[in-house]
Amino acid sequence: MPQLNENFLKLEKNYLFINIAKKIKAYSDANPDADIIRMGIGDVTQPIAQCVIDAMKKGADEMAVKETFKGYEDSGAGYDFLKEAVSGYYSSFGVEIKPDEIRINDGAKCDCGNIVDIFGNDNVVLITDPAYPVYVDTNLMNGRRVIYADSNEQNSFAAMPDESVHADLIYLCSPNNPTGSVYTKDQLKEWISYAKKNNAIIIYDCAYEAFITEEDIPRSIFAVEGSRECAIEMCSLSKTAGFTGMRCGYTVIPDELTAKASDGSEVSISQLWGRRQGSKFNGVSYPVQCAAAAVFSEEGLKQTSENIKYYQQNAKVIASALDEMGIKYTGGKNSPYIWFKCPNNMSSWDFFDKLLSEANVVGTPGSGFGKNGEGWFRLTAFGDSERTKEAMERFKALKF
Ligand code: MLT
Repeated sequence: MPQLNENFLKLEKNYLFINIAKKIKAYSDANPDADIIRMGIGDVTQPIAQCVIDAMKKGADEMAVKETFKGYEDSGAGYDFLKEAVSGYYSSFGVEIKPDEIRINDGAKCDCGNIVDIFGNDNVVLITDPAYPVYVDTNLMNGRRVIYADSNEQNSFAAMPDESVHADLIYLCSPNNPTGSVYTKDQLKEWISYAKKNNAIIIYDCAYEAFITEEDIPRSIFAVEGSRECAIEMCSLSKTAGFTGMRCGYTVIPDELTAKASDGSEVSISQLWGRRQGSKFNGVSYPVQCAAAAVFSEEGLKQTSENIKYYQQNAKVIASALDEMGIKYTGGKNSPYIWFKCPNNMSSWDFFDKLLSEANVVGTPGSGFGKNGEGWFRLTAFGDSERTKEAMERFKALKF
C-alpha cells in the first residue's frame, strides 16, 4: 500500500476558491432566480486584444503547414522571440533582464507552487499574512515550517521584516493579492537587506504590476539595487492581458543568484530550476507563445492597456461606494483588488453570507488569505462595468 504524503491531510479540505465556488453553487441551486454578481475570484472578463488573437491564429495556422510546423521547443524555456519580447518589456521601465534569464511558463501560479521543489524541506519559509494561498499551501504540502510577517491596518498591509527572526525563503507580492497594497523602493530595499543578512532568497510575485499607476512604485524587484543576488521574480499575462484562460507567464532568475550546497559548492538557482523544469514541464504551446509575444508589441501594449483602464475604472466605482459608506479600504489605486473592513465588525465569512444572500454579490472573505484577513473582505475590479456599478448599489442598500 502506498504511503500518503500526509502533509496534504493538514491542509484545508478545499482550495479557497473551490470552497467559494461550492458555496455559490449551493446558493444558486436553492435560489435559481437569483441574479448573482461575481466579484470573488480574480478572473478577467474583457476579451483579449484583437492583435494578440491574430498572432495566436497565425501561430496556429503555421502548425498546419509542414515547413512551419513546430513540435517540442528545444529548451522548454520558451521561444527566443517571446523571451526577447519580455526582456524588451522590462527595458521599457528601465530594468535590464537578459532573455536567457527568463523562462516562459503556463502562468505564475504553477511556478509559485513548483519552485519549492528545488529547495530543501528544512528551510524556514516567511510569508506575509494575508497572502495568496498558493504560497502557504505548497510549502505545507512539503511539511516546511512557515512563519508569518503580519500585514495589518497598522502597517497599511505592507509587512516589513523583523530582524530578530530568521528565514531562508521569503514570499513577497506587490501589488499585493489580496490587499492591493504596494511596496515602495525603500521598503523593498529593507527586504533585500534582510534577505542578504539571512542568506535568504525572495520569491517575488508581481502578477499585478500592470495595474501600477504611481510612477515611483517599482514594477519589478529588479528595479531595486542588490536584488539580483537574492531574488526570483514571477509574473503572468493573466491579469496584464486577460490570459487566465490562455495560460502564459514568466519567471526571471538572474545569473548571479546562487545558493550553497551542503558540500560548500555554489549552485546556480537558474540551473537547478531549469533542471527541474526539464524533467517536469514541456513548455507552453507555440500559438500561445505567439499571442504572448504580441502582447509586448507596440500595438499589443496599446490595446491591452485599454482593458486595464476599464478595470481601473471599476476599481474607482468600488472605492467611491466604500468612501460613501465610510468603510475603510486599501488597494484599488495600483491594483485590481479592493480590500475593506467588513461593516459592523462582522467576521469575513458572516459578511460573505450576508452579501451573497441579501445582495446576491460574491466577494472573497479576507480570512481565507490568513489570520490577519479576519474581519476584512476582497472585491475584484475585473468584472463588467455595469455589473460592478449594480453590485455596489446593492451593497449600499444593505441594512446592518
Ligand atoms: C485570486 O482571485 O486571488 C486569483 O484567482 C489568483 C490567481 O490568479 O490564481
